[in-house]
Amino acid sequence: METYLKDNEREMRATTSTAMMTTTRTTTRTTSTSSGRALFLPRCYCSSLSSFASSFASSSSSSSSATKSRRRSCRQSASNSFPSRAAGETAATTTFRRGGEGKGGRAASKFFVGRRAMSSSFSAAFSSTTAAADSLTMTKPDDWHLHVRDGSKIASVVPHTAKQFDRALIMPNLQPPVRTAEEASGYRKLILEAAKTTNAKFEPHMTLYLTDETSEKTVEDAAKCGFVRGFKLYPAGATTNSSFGVTDVKKVMPALKKMAELGLILQVHGEVTHQTVDIFDREARYIEEVLKPLLEEVKDLRVVMEHITTKNAADFVSNFPEDGRLAATITPQHVLLNRNALFKGGMRPHLYCLPILKREEHREAVLNAAVGPKSERFFLGTDSAPHPKGAKESACGCAGVFSAHAALSFYAMAFDSVGKLDKLEAFASHNGADFYRVPRNSGTITLKREEWEVPETYEFGGDVVVPFFAGERFRGPFNKKF
Ligand code: DOR
Ligand code: ZN
Repeated sequence: METYLKDNEREMRATTSTAMMTTTRTTTRTTSTSSGRALFLPRCYCSSLSSFASSFASSSSSSSSATKSRRRSCRQSASNSFPSRAAGETAATTTFRRGGEGKGGRAASKFFVGRRAMSSSFSAAFSSTTAAADSLTMTKPDDWHLHVRDGSKIASVVPHTAKQFDRALIMPNLQPPVRTAEEASGYRKLILEAAKTTNAKFEPHMTLYLTDETSEKTVEDAAKCGFVRGFKLYPAGATTNSSFGVTDVKKVMPALKKMAELGLILQVHGEVTHQTVDIFDREARYIEEVLKPLLEEVKDLRVVMEHITTKNAADFVSNFPEDGRLAATITPQHVLLNRNALFKGGMRPHLYCLPILKREEHREAVLNAAVGPKSERFFLGTDSAPHPKGAKESACGCAGVFSAHAALSFYAMAFDSVGKLDKLEAFASHNGADFYRVPRNSGTITLKREEWEVPETYEFGGDVVVPFFAGERFRGPFNKKF
């Protein structure tokens, strides 16, 4: 079932039930705001017409040379949208092990080579660390936030993750969503099968899609089955396939209380969805309007704020008064890029995700939280979210960045940019396991300095997906072609 791209007619259904009314199956959506003024929004084909998406994909993959050269010039002019380490910060060298001289060796002076050179400040920041060691061996990591889709697409994407990670928490936003332990069990088997090609030990852990109708019995069954870690709260209308999401947290209170009682974790997509709230403010507003009251009301509920993007979220999690109750996942794109990257040299649909990239001060705050005094509250969750190329390069492109192909290397870049590679192992391999109360993985993985090029596309269930940093060549620090 190639379902996740299908109908999003109800996507905006209850964005705020009074603030929005949607007419379905028309090319223009009529919306009334809370002030009663009508807006006309173009209809988004992102998740509504998969046949449209795939026909677009096949035409765009055979793009003309004119289009190709346009793309190239666009990429070149986007060369410096990356962070640099602050002057005076030193490279971390203490906890990672020294290997022999890597192939890329000490000669590595630029982080990217080939078609796009890194901005000089960034490459300089890296060269000091790359000179320090050639390999970094660490406990096998976990990806605590991953989308692997369904149908034939599972087999295309799961092996990328399984090469690097021994576990992942699988998101349930298929169409229809994964709502019960029984549904998750079937889905999990398909993922296990797909992982075998690269990692027979790979364990998918599951989260179920919380809806207004989730019953206490569903929660009890989930707690009993052993492979469900929690429920994912999508505010209705917030993102891809969120139309079945929660319209009002009050409606899910019995389920949340049962989860707290049985030790299941709530994973939250923390954005308000009112059309009157600016897209860059949605996370901050969610904390104030929904998350704080929720944590107050369901005292024993343990919560992961997923894919945080703002200083507000980083501070909220860091300063939360209780240990072990609130944590956050962080994606690679939100610590490597700020919102300028979305528009650098032209529109960058492959960097569009939700929550959207934020200002530089937010990127810095999130990265600093991951390596700061409360760093044990933050852990790796890629939110790798593949969409077919054509569904991204569309008049209404889907949200999601596919980063699974080299996720760990991307985090290594970010941590190294602030001289904190020594914090990578805890972030990637310890903090999440500890929060979820599962044993840390026993194996190890080694990141080496290698030169490699990210392909322009990867196969994606009969289609193609454009990966994060497509077409770029890397060398050091601790990149690896997985
Ligand atoms: O960018 C995103 N893509 N954010 C989400 O929350 C969902 C995801 C997807 O499933 O495509
Ligand atoms: Zn996600």
